[in-house]
Amino acid sequence: MERNTVGEVMITEEQIRMRAAEIGKQISEEFKNEDLLLVGILKGAVLWMADVIKNIENENMSIDFMVVSSYGASTKSSGVVKIVKDLDVDIEDKAVIIVEDIVDSGITLNYLKSYLAGRNAKIVKICTLLDKPEGRRVELAADYIGFTVPDRFIVGYGLDFDQKYRQLPYISFLK
Ligand code: IMP
Ligand code: MG
Repeated sequence: MERNTVGEVMITEEQIRMRAAEIGKQISEEFKNEDLLLVGILKGAVLWMADVIKNIENENMSIDFMVVSSYGASTKSSGVVKIVKDLDVDIEDKAVIIVEDIVDSGITLNYLKSYLAGRNAKIVKICTLLDKPEGRRVELAADYIGFTVPDRFIVGYGLDFDQKYRQLPYISFLK
């Protein structure tokens, strides 16, 4: 039996690009006159982040990145997230949109959202490529969702399994 091979294409590059254009347009309209900061969560969000920001019209937009990691699987439910790389910029009074690859348990984003709000951002929103609602362990709703996926292990378009498959230009799953 084959193990850990990539399954069929679930979401194509074209579908992702089209959705990024829609969401980018929506963000442009909603944050027209705002000092806007998009915060990509490395590494998973890189491809999606690139697609979304190309579609944002706002002369006062900038980007930054964070690296976060969970404090090991056994303590995951505690909701403790370690910040490996923090923001380079001050976010006071900025409209911040966190850009993530997937919301699963919701623990990472729940933590990040309150962390950034606590640094006096004007508003903190979440833009995720994928939402896996069946995985939720804490209540967390993303504001901009590319696609909703079933409770499977997803790979591709930034999402990895053991650091592999991030480069796939489509969303698939492990089988
Ligand atoms: P959460 O804190 O459980 O919501 O998960 C956040 C992180 O777990 C995501 O940013 C991903 O890096 C990883 N993750 C969750 N589900 C998947 C998946 O299906 N494939 C790959 N990575 C995943
Ligand atoms: Mg991630």
